[in-house]
Amino acid sequence: MEIYHISAECYPVAKVGGLADVVGALPKYQNNLGHNAKVVVPGYDNKFTNENEFDTIHQGKLKLGWFHFNYTVFREKTNKLGFELYLIAIPELFDRPNVYSYDDDTERFTAFQIAFLNWLTETNQNPDILHCHDHHTGMIPFMVQNAFNYHHLKATPTVLTIHNGQYQGWFGLDKLHYLPEFHQSKLGFLEWNGIINPLASAIKCAWKVTTVSPSYLDEISNNANGLETLLRYERPKSIGILNGIDTEVWNPKTDEMLVSNFNLKNFKTGKNKNKEFICEQFNLDINKPLFTFIGRLVGEKGADLLPEICSTALSRNPREINILMLGSGDKQLENSLDGLKYFYPGNYNAYIGYNEKLAHIIYAGADYLLMPSRVEPCGLNQMYAMRYGTIPIVRRTGGLKDTVWDIGDGGFGICHDNTSVYDVNHSITRGIDLFNDREKFDSVRKTILQIDHSWDKVAEEYITVYQSLKN
Ligand code: GLC
Repeated sequence: MEIYHISAECYPVAKVGGLADVVGALPKYQNNLGHNAKVVVPGYDNKFTNENEFDTIHQGKLKLGWFHFNYTVFREKTNKLGFELYLIAIPELFDRPNVYSYDDDTERFTAFQIAFLNWLTETNQNPDILHCHDHHTGMIPFMVQNAFNYHHLKATPTVLTIHNGQYQGWFGLDKLHYLPEFHQSKLGFLEWNGIINPLASAIKCAWKVTTVSPSYLDEISNNANGLETLLRYERPKSIGILNGIDTEVWNPKTDEMLVSNFNLKNFKTGKNKNKEFICEQFNLDINKPLFTFIGRLVGEKGADLLPEICSTALSRNPREINILMLGSGDKQLENSLDGLKYFYPGNYNAYIGYNEKLAHIIYAGADYLLMPSRVEPCGLNQMYAMRYGTIPIVRRTGGLKDTVWDIGDGGFGICHDNTSVYDVNHSITRGIDLFNDREKFDSVRKTILQIDHSWDKVAEEYITVYQSLKN
């Protein structure tokens, strides 16, 4: 099957969060199954686009209301990512380093979607599936079904994957004229609560809706930032498919970013060498359990509670743990997590920013990964941690609930029910006890090192979904 994945992010081209990891891996595994899955992202002005070579394969024009833009489609020359990668360059809108957070994001992503469909139309392409990811590509299902320009794509099945239902991309009806012409009776398919809502539109129009874990689908049917009734209504065409992880990139045996590689047999020494490196770099105590948080510093991830969680856990006398933070996001939070360094030297440190290599070393060297998320559609970090023998401490929500079971119930992680300082600190105490019971600690680590979360099976599940739409 010929499949187009259309997305704002794709690792290693442009990454803000887990969306990039999924879009950078799933197509590769679909291609391993003999399909032709391709990825289309905007042409940002970033490291990847500047350091790689591309062929120009198409040039065209697009109209966004009164505005006119030229667009160019580039294809990465080598296919080294395991799929054909296409960049749609619209210099006025995307010649910038970041993916999001510009005042004209509505214009940027609307233009991107129109350029993509113009390209398919002008070059007469008829792919088998258009797979849209999150709200940035959420108006494609509506446009292929309703815009007069794209009539030839009307019968092309569309799939929406919701990676994060909190963000919906809404904008006012005053910008309706950005969209290519369609019959006004169809307006209801774009709108939700009186404004244009690209995510809602995709939920209405896509032939199939998937979420990145089964539990998240249940949760958003009850609470989805205003979309819950819609999701309940569209439930019959929805399915939760748990993400995989790219086990080629995330492989403790071969990962070149690590200080020391390891396998099931020598994991204790291997993990310890990575821990030694971290403790040296960040002035931490090698003999104490190392708890970490890696991710975006935002309320959704429960990061606002981290300063209090850390100070409560570190105020004990004697101090029994190390904590290391790696992340960026909310500025105030960044400052308070950075400031804690001065209160607990030798047991606490923080790296404010994004550092893929350091993240790999921390996954390998840490003892525990904290994920107190309020919302977690899937969560990949707990799977990366387990793949590297680091025990996850998670709140039972969304994909965390689907991937981590508590040791008390015969599982291999530590779970709590609330995103609260009390619950997380209780779990940290359980982590300390487990760390001191070396036999049990090592047997849990052995168990998680053997869990298989690879994409192979998941890629097939998506193909089954596509096939059901083609019949
Ligand atoms: C988003 C979600 C995260 C999920 C990822 C990939 O970043 O917040 O839970 O794992 O998308 O689907």
